[in-house]
Amino acid sequence: MSVNRAIGWELEGMPRIVRGAGSYLYDAAGKRYLDGSGGPAAFCLGHGHPEVNAAISAQLAQVACGYRYLYTSEPLEQLTELMLRKCGPTFGQIVFASSGSEAMEGTMKVALQYWDACGRGSKRRFISRERSYHGSTLGALSLSGFAERRRPFERSLLDVSFVSAANVYRPPAGLTAAGLADALAAELDERIRALGPENVAAFVFEPVVGAAGGVVPAPPGYAEAVREVCSRHEVLLIADEVMCGSGRCGTWLALEHDGVVADIVAVAKGLAGGYIPLAATIFSRNIAATIAQAHGSVLTGHTFSGHTAACAAGLAVQRIIERDQLLERVRTRGTQLRSELAEALRGIESVGDIRGRGYFIGIELVQDRASKAPFPEQRGLSQQIAARAFADGLICFPCAGNAGGGLGDALIIAPPYNASDAELAELIEKLTRAIKHTM
Ligand SMILES: Cc1ncc(COP(=O)(O)O)c(C=O)c1O
Repeated sequence: MSVNRAIGWELEGMPRIVRGAGSYLYDAAGKRYLDGSGGPAAFCLGHGHPEVNAAISAQLAQVACGYRYLYTSEPLEQLTELMLRKCGPTFGQIVFASSGSEAMEGTMKVALQYWDACGRGSKRRFISRERSYHGSTLGALSLSGFAERRRPFERSLLDVSFVSAANVYRPPAGLTAAGLADALAAELDERIRALGPENVAAFVFEPVVGAAGGVVPAPPGYAEAVREVCSRHEVLLIADEVMCGSGRCGTWLALEHDGVVADIVAVAKGLAGGYIPLAATIFSRNIAATIAQAHGSVLTGHTFSGHTAACAAGLAVQRIIERDQLLERVRTRGTQLRSELAEALRGIESVGDIRGRGYFIGIELVQDRASKAPFPEQRGLSQQIAARAFADGLICFPCAGNAGGGLGDALIIAPPYNASDAELAELIEKLTRAIKHTM
């Protein structure tokens, strides 16, 4: 029996998917599943959206892909214009990719090329955070504070320096939520000094941690404080918004909520909503101009960067989100959804924390609310709950190891932005049942 240990499913026992419509998926046996996590927080407009499908079909009828070294295209140009408008005036250039990992490789390469273009080629080191995930390619994995996923590849990864995670529920020993942002900014400041600012290219962080933490928004003031530290030491700030960006948190970039602008950003999952793989590295006008002047062009990208049909999918998804004012809904309905979940789960002693922003919600499970002691790793609690929910026709995303040392269980809820109130109510009901019946 082959087992996908990353998420604990048995491949041979998996149902065969045949159809998706709105917030629901259907398998070959006719069973219906409510997609309560948009898969891995990706399917932001649900499945089978007729307008997105029509835009892709229309593009395919014209041409699937104009190779990036020979052609531009209307979808590529219009999507670039839309995204730069959403990101604000600091940003000036985008390199498209097909996955979050590629987009994160892009952030690293743009940072390194920028410092080289500045004549400051000693700035090669990256600082990242514990309990973070930035992708499965070797560069992006090097940035990831995710021991379980790194272990087989250790000694071939880049020498990245790690600072503490910004987790209010599980702050580093000796710290409380109140002083967390300042203490962690001081830690970053010390680390940059220890490595030598002349050696540090960038600090990389997820504004809201996804799979590695079970949705962990940084405390108020954290993003602002690390921005200040980075600017003071001339270290670039890279925001990994692969999971939390593209509107998932109710603002197009998650960092908008913090009033902070990064130098380089990666977006992916919700960009084209999973209709066709699409991701992007977005960087500032200053970086773009400096590289252009010194080297002519940015030396990163792939065969399918800016793939025409993928850009048509992204453009259609983003236009629908704008037209239907879905980010307003995600913001307001997201807060309500968190309180409704808290109400429904109130009596379950093992629900330790419910947190998040917009339609990006994490539920952490603990043995004891007061001590926050996690369940034993062998129990595989989050996977058991997700499997029970799946059997009952609900998809949620299980996370393990978020408490460190392989311990910790959390579930991610990330419904499509256009899910109806009735679908959100079904999500709460089925999730509550799955948690109750697994405990
Ligand atoms: C924050 C973050 N960065 C990067 C990645 C890598 O993206 P992909 O799996 O599309 O390569 C992920 C994937 O889950 C992610 O959550």
